Amino acid sequence: MSNVTVIGTQWGDEGKGKIVDWLASRADIVVRFQGGHNAGHTLVVGDQVYKLSLLPSGLVRGKIGVIGNGVVVDPKALMTEIDRVTAQGLVVTPETLWIAENAPLILPVHGALDRAREAARGEHKIGTTGRGIGPAYEDKVARRAIRICDLAEPETLNWKLDELLLHHNTLLAGLGAETFTKGQLKDFLTEITPRLLPFSCQVWDRLDEARRAGRRILFEGAQAVMLDVDHGTYPYVTSSNTVAAVAASGSGVSPSSVGFVLGIAKAYTTRVGEGPFPTELHDQTGRTLGERGHEFGTVTGRPRRCGWFDAVLIRRAVRVGGVSGIALTKLDVLDGLDEISICVGYELDGKKIETFPSAPGAQARVKPVYETMPGWKETTAGARSWAELPAQAIKYVRRIEELIEAPVTLLSTSPERDDTILMRDPFED
Ligand code: GDP
Ligand code: IMO
Ligand code: MG
Repeated sequence: MSNVTVIGTQWGDEGKGKIVDWLASRADIVVRFQGGHNAGHTLVVGDQVYKLSLLPSGLVRGKIGVIGNGVVVDPKALMTEIDRVTAQGLVVTPETLWIAENAPLILPVHGALDRAREAARGEHKIGTTGRGIGPAYEDKVARRAIRICDLAEPETLNWKLDELLLHHNTLLAGLGAETFTKGQLKDFLTEITPRLLPFSCQVWDRLDEARRAGRRILFEGAQAVMLDVDHGTYPYVTSSNTVAAVAASGSGVSPSSVGFVLGIAKAYTTRVGEGPFPTELHDQTGRTLGERGHEFGTVTGRPRRCGWFDAVLIRRAVRVGGVSGIALTKLDVLDGLDEISICVGYELDGKKIETFPSAPGAQARVKPVYETMPGWKETTAGARSWAELPAQAIKYVRRIEELIEAPVTLLSTSPERDDTILMRDPFED
């Protein structure tokens, strides 16, 4: 019996939330370990739709949710989300939600700086969610972040705010954006402290106790390998590491606790924001995928860019992310297409290349080499067993497995929780 870590293998929005919710029935605790409210995870359970950004998806199943130290926490966004899901009938209390007291906070200065910098970048903008994720991680690494535990020490908060404001106001003023006063930030923190502090605890200690008691832990990644700050399409990435290894450091558990790494991959590819995307389709097929897949960003509402499945990128994500098996989602969106293409290699400046290059110029010039196979006319939408799938859809899945050098262990055929096919239980691996 093992733990399971779920990560995205493309550019996010692969359906991690749906799969984590589905797997959570087999787990006791669900842990977020990186990212922040840039994530948007959609869960469909009967006629209820839950859109979660910071809250671990396991809360919907009544499991304990944990926000680890690797997450950057916007306390206002968190409280708004708690209020929203509470109105939907979920119970979120300090017994069901544990937040690491050493997690750094996202403050209003971070969002302001994120947006001002994006505006200043002009045509080289990253297309961030504008939620202050990058600036908050920068502050953490620069040892200037306000962490949740600081809220209990007014003296510490006082000098830390001075240091933080000196840095941020200098930058904001230089960018021609509005600066902040210490009073503004103090008011912000004073308002959220009484609600936030009761959730905070030494998460690492509780997770260690849970491990000793034989509890099953499910780690819920946000974003994806191609958005990883080291392994993704830098600089068009997010500001955290998104690979499975971070489940350990981002929550304070042993690397051996990561367990089975389930990589989530969409049966095609999407991306929100700027940056290279070799298999992007600018034609009617791209628009069809977007319409059928309802490809609009959960967080920002921006239309997602759509393209064919890129097996070369996923093979890399499998290797870099230590993926043990793949959950292939949104197979149903391909129903009825005459032909389906898979990217099986690249060309760069007229030469065949085996792996995706690292420099942004070369990444932008990469051309995909496709293998094309017939589509299927039958519907896979709502299928709950392998036997319900058309032969051609099975061929597509099998070809993907060969190309990415990893087994497909789960299949998803609609947004609905139970429209899921299990081939191999990751908790039993
Ligand atoms: P996440 O960020 O990886 O959790 O993914 P999002 O929730 O942002 O985006 C995935 C979208 O696809 C959501 O709207 C899901 O409800 C939906 N979805 C997930 N799995 C499937 C599937 O198998 N088929 C279809 N049609 N939609 C799916
Ligand atoms: P989930 O968990 C898709 C993208 C943004 C932008 C880049 C940097 O739902 O898969 P940031 O605000 O993080 O500094 O933006 O990363 N991005 C995502 N794209 N899904 C996400 O999360 C994303 N989180 C960030 O669009 O291109
Ligand atoms: Mg999402």
